[in-house]
Parts: sequence; C-alpha cells; structure tokens
Amino acid sequence: MLLRAPDVRLPTRAALDRARLELERRLGPSRVLTAPEACASYAHDDSDVESCPVDMVVLAESAADVAVTLEIAEACEVPVTPRAGGTGRTGGAVPVAGGIVLATHKLARIKEIDRANLVAVVEPGVVTGELHAAVEAEGLFYAPDPNSLDSCMLGGNLAENAGGPRAFKYGVTRDWVLGLEACLMGGRVLRTGKRTVKGVTGYDVTALLVGSEGTLAVFTEATLRLVPRPPAVATALALFSDVKLAAGAVTAIVAAGVVPRCLEMLDAASLQAVRAAGVAIDLRAGAMLLVEVDGDAAEAALMRVGEVASACAGCVDVLAAQDAGQRDRLWAARRMLSTATRKLARHKLSEDVVVPRSRIAELLERTDGIGEATGVRHLSYGHAGDGNLHVNFLWDDDAERPAVDRAIGMLMRATVELGGTLTGEHGIGVSKAQYLALEQSEGLIALQQSIKRVFDPSGLLNPGKIFPSGGHRAC
Ligand code: LAC
Ligand code: ZN
Repeated sequence: MLLRAPDVRLPTRAALDRARLELERRLGPSRVLTAPEACASYAHDDSDVESCPVDMVVLAESAADVAVTLEIAEACEVPVTPRAGGTGRTGGAVPVAGGIVLATHKLARIKEIDRANLVAVVEPGVVTGELHAAVEAEGLFYAPDPNSLDSCMLGGNLAENAGGPRAFKYGVTRDWVLGLEACLMGGRVLRTGKRTVKGVTGYDVTALLVGSEGTLAVFTEATLRLVPRPPAVATALALFSDVKLAAGAVTAIVAAGVVPRCLEMLDAASLQAVRAAGVAIDLRAGAMLLVEVDGDAAEAALMRVGEVASACAGCVDVLAAQDAGQRDRLWAARRMLSTATRKLARHKLSEDVVVPRSRIAELLERTDGIGEATGVRHLSYGHAGDGNLHVNFLWDDDAERPAVDRAIGMLMRATVELGGTLTGEHGIGVSKAQYLALEQSEGLIALQQSIKRVFDPSGLLNPGKIFPSGGHRAC
C-alpha cells in the first residue's frame, strides 16, 4: 500500500526469456526458480511495500553464481533485486521492477574466526544470531544485534547498516565491517577494505557499500571486527509515571558519564504489549527504561544508573534483573515488541526516526500533537540512548490510510526540524524515498545518484530504492 510507487523500468518478455535461458545454461535449472508459486515467497520483506510479480529467483550457492547472475542480468537488461534474510522494514529486498531476485541465503558459511586478529570472515546468508553464538563460544563478541537476530542475515544487515539495542555503546553494523568482497552489476568482483585494525588506503569504499541498500553491489563475503566477550552483563528496569519524564532520565544517565550498552525506552502502550506477553510490570508504570551495562565494573555501573534514575522526576521504581532467566524474559518481550504491537490493530507502520537524544521529549510531544491532528493512534518505543525511536502508527480501517500518510509526513518533518534524521536503522528503501528531500539537499541527492551511475550505469541493480520519483510503475 504505497502513497507513491517507484518509477521503474520493467523488463521486456524477450529480455526475461533470454536471461532465464542463459541463467539455466550457466547455473543449472535447479538454481533458477521460475514457477510463480515458488517465486512468490521471494516477493516480500517485513514491510508493506508491494512487489511486482517476481519473474525468476536465482538461488546462489557461491560468489561465482552471484557474478554470473549479475553478468547475465546486465547483458539481458533485466533488473536484479538482491536478498538475504528478507526481514527488512522498508522494502529494500522487494522486487518493485520484477525481473530476477538474487537470493544469497545459501551462502551461509562462517569461513573463519581468527582469535589472534579478532576477525571473522562470513558469507551474507549467515543468520546474525548464529554468528553471535559461534563467536561467543570462542570468548569473542560481535555487537550489532538487530531485534530480528534469530532470522535476519548478515547480508541484509550490511546492506541496511542495521543497528539494534547495543548500538548505544558499540555502534552499528558499519563500525564492525573491515572489508568486503562485493560483486558489481555486470559481474566484476571487488575486494574492498582490510583485515587489519588500521588502514587508510584510498577511499573508504567499504563504508560506502555498507548501508547502500543493495543499490551499488551484492556482498559475497565480509570481514568483521570482533572484540573479547564482555565478562559480565547486568540489566535493570527503571519505571516512570510518564514517557516524557523517562526521556529526561535518559539524558541524566548519559550526563552522569555511565555508558550502558543498551538504553531502551517503552511508552505506556508498548508496556501494555510487554505485559500481554507475560512479563509482570508494576501497574503504576506508564513508561520503562531498560538499561543494560557490561564489562568488569558492570555491577557498579548499574548501581550508578539506579541512583541517577531514582533521583529523576517521575521515577516509580528501579529494579535490577535478578537472574539470567528474568533478563532473558525481559529481552524476549522487548525483541518481540514489533510483532506484539502488530496485534493491536489491523495495520501498523513503524518508523525509526532519530533526534539528538536531548530532544526525545520534544519528539514525543510532537508525536502526540500529530496523533491529535490526524486522529491516528500511535505508540513509541526504541533505542532512546541513540535518540532513535520507533514511532508506530496503528489503524484498523483502510479509510484511515490517508490520515496515516499525513501523520508519517508530519513526523518526518518534525524529526528534521528537531535536528534529526529520517532513519536510524531500517534504511530509506521504498517506504521513505518520498521524504528524502526533507533531509538532504538537491545537490547531495544528485551526487549520490551520480555515484549510483558509476557502480550501475544501466540502473538495473535494486531499482526503485532510496531515491524519490514522481511516476507510477506499470505492473
Ligand atoms: C526494533 C526493530 C523494529 O528495534 O528495529 O524492535
Ligand atoms: Zn530498532
């Protein structure tokens, strides 16, 4: 259900037939799906972005398969949409121009965990949670932890520069990528970056490719940075009467010099969803901060967080998680929030705007105003330490959709006015392309489109993403 569909060129039937025959010849028919029912399950991600029918799916099993697919796609002038776990939130993996979906989930090897150099070499189809488990078993740690970590894959994390609750202390995916093997449209394979701690040779093409939303290249391997596994972790809940007062405590905790690894905030409606998931939370609480610290001095840091939070206006209680079981239940409820809040209405759209953290209370104020002006229900939770809030709009009746679109537009404008940015972790994709010009100048958008043309002159790699368009597609 799109307000404005991307303006993309669809492949001709003759081009599709040529591409299919050539792919089947070079890769073998078993790696090329063409039955509509088989292709349909590769048409969607975790957004409401509409797909064009998928003409064929390549199940790549090696970097060579990826290169062959991109060579044939360019020669036959057929668009390609790369895909790993398909859990994205903004349509990055949705084939809005039809053509080929290039599925990389079968490239799923952890090729190396190098303890001496604190490096892991992985393929794009590795499930993020599986990498966590593998490196933690070796006493090591890979910090990026999108909440879908049990199903999302590193290829998508890299493409979207995914974040997660631990970004407050440890940064986002890009901060953990040392180097890449990536395949360009046409089939040229490039290695970028390094596997050393330092390295400033040439432009930072690795950083450019991470977060490029599948529009510049397809990843076939990544070299990731690791750190020693933190020796201890401690978690606390700080309960507040009101979410704007909880926002004040976020600033106070940061100002006190504590660096929690996670500093999450939930408003009253989100708390209700957590309670409904079976976690008992004091009924006096109208908001919650979930604070987690790690390292040698975790217990002392948690005490300090408790002191600071207790002294803040509106604090109802501060509770330390008593054991690993309680901690796991809390995180399970937090990680499920996106799914749990989906049950609150027939439709839901979740944004991931970011403002300077000292302005979260203002953003919440503005969000309430937007709810009043448009009549659209909303709730907010998210990574308050990063100023990154998931503002969710909920509605039941399709007739409310224009009001929801108005509300989203108002939220985007408010975010930019508060000195913020449209997306902190889910990317622009299709969903937010129409708002790009609110944040970025015409010149900057044009520069990025020129970069896109250098990597992909024919515009066939993941078309319809990031950049706004005025037209309507034909399918
Ligand atoms: C979360 C996802 C939606 O934080 O980013 O739950
Ligand atoms: Zn998030």
